[in-house]
Amino acid sequence: MHVDLRESWFIGEVEIPTRLVLAPMAGVSVQAFRRQGRRYGAGLVCSEMVSVAGIAHRNERTLDYLRVASDEHPLAIQIFGSDPGAMADAARMVEAAGADLVDINFGCPVKKVTKTGAGCSLLDDPDQAVRIVSAVADATPLPVSVKMRRGTENGSRVCLDVGPRLVEAGAASLTLHPRSAKQMYTGQADHALTTELVDLVDVPVIASGDITSRARAQAVLATTGASAVMVGRAAQGNPWALAEIMGEEAEPSREEVVAELLLFMRETVRELGEFRATGFLKKFYGWYLGRGRFPKPFKQELVTLATIDEVELRLFAAAPGAREVLKRLESEVVPVDEVLLELPISIYGGG
Ligand SMILES: Cc1cc2nc3c(=O)[nH]c(=O)nc-3n(C[C@H](O)[C@H](O)[C@H](O)COP(=O)(O)O)c2cc1C
Repeated sequence: MHVDLRESWFIGEVEIPTRLVLAPMAGVSVQAFRRQGRRYGAGLVCSEMVSVAGIAHRNERTLDYLRVASDEHPLAIQIFGSDPGAMADAARMVEAAGADLVDINFGCPVKKVTKTGAGCSLLDDPDQAVRIVSAVADATPLPVSVKMRRGTENGSRVCLDVGPRLVEAGAASLTLHPRSAKQMYTGQADHALTTELVDLVDVPVIASGDITSRARAQAVLATTGASAVMVGRAAQGNPWALAEIMGEEAEPSREEVVAELLLFMRETVRELGEFRATGFLKKFYGWYLGRGRFPKPFKQELVTLATIDEVELRLFAAAPGAREVLKRLESEVVPVDEVLLELPISIYGGG
């Protein structure tokens, strides 16, 4: 069965222009990553998970995650927490920040999160999960989506019991990453469960896990009946994977790789400030320059450089033609026009 990835679809009344969704990833899904994802074909992008406790305390770093650029829409902001009232308050902030969807995290397997009763642990407490979705759906007119794993234990099918209850409570879409929390990222995503979930609910389901190519995307869409596929790790430092999934010529030249990396670096410095960006960006050097694109010692050298300026110079020296490509990219990318919440400007670090 041929599946058209360029077909639009809806979550509630929000139209999603393609059937490719960029995954929320903590420590990765900054604005620059999301905007790049949109340019390369993602129809929907999502923030990384944002702590509702951080929102409640007006924590500066947390509120930074609520910054939305005008060319990101449609965009989901993902929240995590365990208290329905706090989740409802956070959903109102997400709406004020200009998001199109509120996404709830019932999938995070990390101890720091699960020990607070949030993330994946809510799949073991379906009544509380239902209360959360219901409180959030009542708090905002935005469509509410939920992202979950198959369950906490290996082989669990809990998602099939909880999923329909979450829809009844007001979820307008479900994303399933069919691994257990125990598995973390080992083994394989079992999309047979995605097929079962699609059959059980009458809202769109997004399939997440191990989507790395157009062939895989087409196969998962065709066999599961999911409305869209979500791509995470394959897009780290590699927006060309998104282009390939959308059916476009994907293999970039070295100049294109370096230019995209430089644009990403500049955007990230603007967003996070130079100090935070310097550490944050280090993992991206390997992601962009790996895959046989540049020799290993070169990647290792970049990580040791103290400033972003030094990294820029080194990258230009390795691929002088990147200057032209970068100039073109910068002229094409819409200048950032952020929606700011009605809160003291200082919380945005002046950005
Ligand atoms: C570094 C990293 C951070 C992640 N952070 C989040 C997150 O904040 N919220 C979430 O729902 N899922 C998170 N995930 C899970 C991904 O969204 C996705 O479901 C998972 O990686 C499987 O998809 P993939 O095989 O395409 O990577 C994260 C995954 C990775 C690798």
